[in-house]
Amino acid sequence: MRKAIKGNIVYTEIKEEFIVYDDSYLVYEEDIIEGIYEELPTDISSDNVIDYGSAIIIPSFIDLHIHAPQYIQIGLGLNLGLIDWLNKYTFKLEKRFSDVSYGKRVYPHFVESLYEHGSLRSCIFATNHDASTRVLMEELKKKKLSAYVGIVNMDQNAPEDLLVDAEKSIKITKEFIEDYQNNTKIKPIITPRFVPSCTKKLMDALGKLSMDYHLPVQTHLAETKPEVKWVKSLFPDAKNYSDVYVRADLYGHEKTIMAHGIYLEEEEIELAKEKNTYLVHCPNSNMNLSSGIMELTNLLDRGLVVGLGSDVGAGHEMGMNKTMSAAIQCSKIRHIINDEERILLESEAFYLATNVNGSFFGNTGTFKSGYKMDVLVIKDDDPLMDTLTPLEQLQRFIYCGGPDSIVARYLEGEFI
Ligand code: GUN
Ligand code: FE
Repeated sequence: MRKAIKGNIVYTEIKEEFIVYDDSYLVYEEDIIEGIYEELPTDISSDNVIDYGSAIIIPSFIDLHIHAPQYIQIGLGLNLGLIDWLNKYTFKLEKRFSDVSYGKRVYPHFVESLYEHGSLRSCIFATNHDASTRVLMEELKKKKLSAYVGIVNMDQNAPEDLLVDAEKSIKITKEFIEDYQNNTKIKPIITPRFVPSCTKKLMDALGKLSMDYHLPVQTHLAETKPEVKWVKSLFPDAKNYSDVYVRADLYGHEKTIMAHGIYLEEEEIELAKEKNTYLVHCPNSNMNLSSGIMELTNLLDRGLVVGLGSDVGAGHEMGMNKTMSAAIQCSKIRHIINDEERILLESEAFYLATNVNGSFFGNTGTFKSGYKMDVLVIKDDDPLMDTLTPLEQLQRFIYCGGPDSIVARYLEGEFI
């Protein structure tokens, strides 16, 4: 049955500009968008229309990089650098998920927060633990969200009690894949934590799993200088950091997410471009851990695919709107230091969090005909704001919005 929602519709098709339809109808059938109309098509009854008045209607958010267990660690130890932060906080916390009852306690809150902040799809790192990761899958399903979820494989350079040896890690990952590979909304993804956490044996076996089951890969790449140096010492024969993943068949055979990519050599930038790698910019995380600032606008201008991620818990904001504003601010810092680097446009930040991030999931993230009906309805209740144009409402939401501003959520045509 064809239905419609009415309001001020805002989205992007190219990164340079917003498309705005004032007071219009977004028409859909089942899970798929049909089109945008200024007048309600005569064959759609008004019973099948929901009028959201002056609210703005935008594509729902996709978070391309987030760690579920770290939800309860947000804000802690953030004056440390990455490796100390992992050792002093993160690994200790993640170990607690070996007890499934801890997963049952934490994951419902994490999933609720994704929902509240409008990240209706996300690419999630869980932990090394099979049972807790399955709890996360169930919680996502209950809340009707869509996600790629990875058991985080790691077999070296962390406390013994968090490591799982390569054989066992592959066994539990394979069972997890086989149980969930036919799901449509919540799916497995191959997730080596990052090079320093994984032996060559483990990475090779994960590369093979990705190829055998045609599964995408997510991991971290070149987030900090000490990490890059460490990787060089661990793999002295590799050309660079990316090459370690390439040699394990973890790079570019299937869709590949490389979080961060701040310290890339020229050859790695060329490789990312050639393979259409999803580099994921995580500005809040990068500022919090003093990791560095990705040269985002340069990479975009060279045609690389760059998405956005919250990277909670190194990032402290669950909302992709706050990740967008942080990305704009980070580009301004780079611009202040070097005025040849340009500032990220608001439309670009929005395009990354919707169109680019959405493309990882298929046809979602924009309002083209044939795309998934994935929508957020945003309303600023402040009476002082009643004169704002739709684009101004969106600007305010990007900088100041939160769960209270989101009045409706639709995933694949379903009001959730
Ligand atoms: N590199 C390896 N593990 C992690 C993690 O949990 N968070 C971040 N930000 N970087 C990592
Ligand atoms: Fe991360």
